[in-house]
Amino acid sequence: MDQFITKVLQNKKISPDYYELSFTWPRNLAPKAGHFLTIRTLLNDDPILRRPFAFSAFDKQNSTASLIYQLRGKGTKAMTTLVPGEDLDVLGPLGGCFSDCDSHHPIILGGGIGTGPMVYLANQWAAQGKSPQLILGYRSKQWIPQVELHDNVDLIITTDDGSQGFHGHGISYLQSQGAVKYPLYACGPQVMLKACHELSEKYQVPCYVSMEELMACGVGACQGCAIEVNLPQKYLRVCKEGPVFESRILKWN
Ligand SMILES: Cc1cc2nc3c(=O)[nH]c(=O)nc-3n(C[C@H](O)[C@H](O)[C@H](O)COP(=O)(O)OP(=O)(O)OC[C@H]3O[C@@H](n4cnc5c(N)ncnc54)[C@H](O)[C@@H]3O)c2cc1C
Ligand code: FES
Repeated sequence: MDQFITKVLQNKKISPDYYELSFTWPRNLAPKAGHFLTIRTLLNDDPILRRPFAFSAFDKQNSTASLIYQLRGKGTKAMTTLVPGEDLDVLGPLGGCFSDCDSHHPIILGGGIGTGPMVYLANQWAAQGKSPQLILGYRSKQWIPQVELHDNVDLIITTDDGSQGFHGHGISYLQSQGAVKYPLYACGPQVMLKACHELSEKYQVPCYVSMEELMACGVGACQGCAIEVNLPQKYLRVCKEGPVFESRILKWN
């Protein structure tokens, strides 16, 4: 984990409220899918706390990395004003990444702010010769961000209103396909992660989720991101022991 200044390369709007931010990134700090960074995103000295974002890509050859962010509040509003060449105060890579997967056809679910890390995971495994299925869910056609995917990725789009792709969310799509035979990987709204965990229990397949709790320090010092687990220690920190967890160790309320 290092804190340093990097340079913005591109800050591209990819849907009405999603942006893809690309920046220089040192080769020796290679982030994998699941790792995150925190950014100091000040607009008139506010907000003070750094904001966490998952990597959506890393290009070792060109020393560049990217993330996909949704415009939400003050921090992400400040990020929308970033222009190429500008300095970016970053800390990372942080947390743990998704472990390698034995299956040739892992199923990867993403939604909302979980889009970036799941696009990265699908591309990472596709580049290794796997054929991952990537299921990305959005409210409606107009909110679907444009993302770059490896040819080996089998992309399924779902929309809540049926305006594009499967009508419903990612979990209903999977249920419509019959028994789930492959490991599940997910990042997105809590309700989706819980449903994904329940599906994995039903079909007895492994399930790994990346959690996106509110964070203060982002480096394991404040306990602000602790979540309940079914382990003797009762709590784990999303920023340090996570953000990726095997779903069956988490307490799902
Ligand atoms: C490990 C990790 C990885 C993340 N990766 C991404 C990513 O790849 N892309 C992305 O767009 N966002 C990601 N997030 C969420 C992102 O950090 C927040 O959206 C961001 O901090 C909001 O900052 P803000 O100042 O714009 O909004 P704020 O003004 O702080 O908040 C605006 C609204 O967003 C809600 N919010 C803030 N943080 C979170 C959060 N962590 N989870 C759910 N709701 C939140 C607040 O409750 C509030 O309603 C990630 C969070 C974590 C912990
Ligand atoms: S955010 Fe401080 S310990 Fe995780």
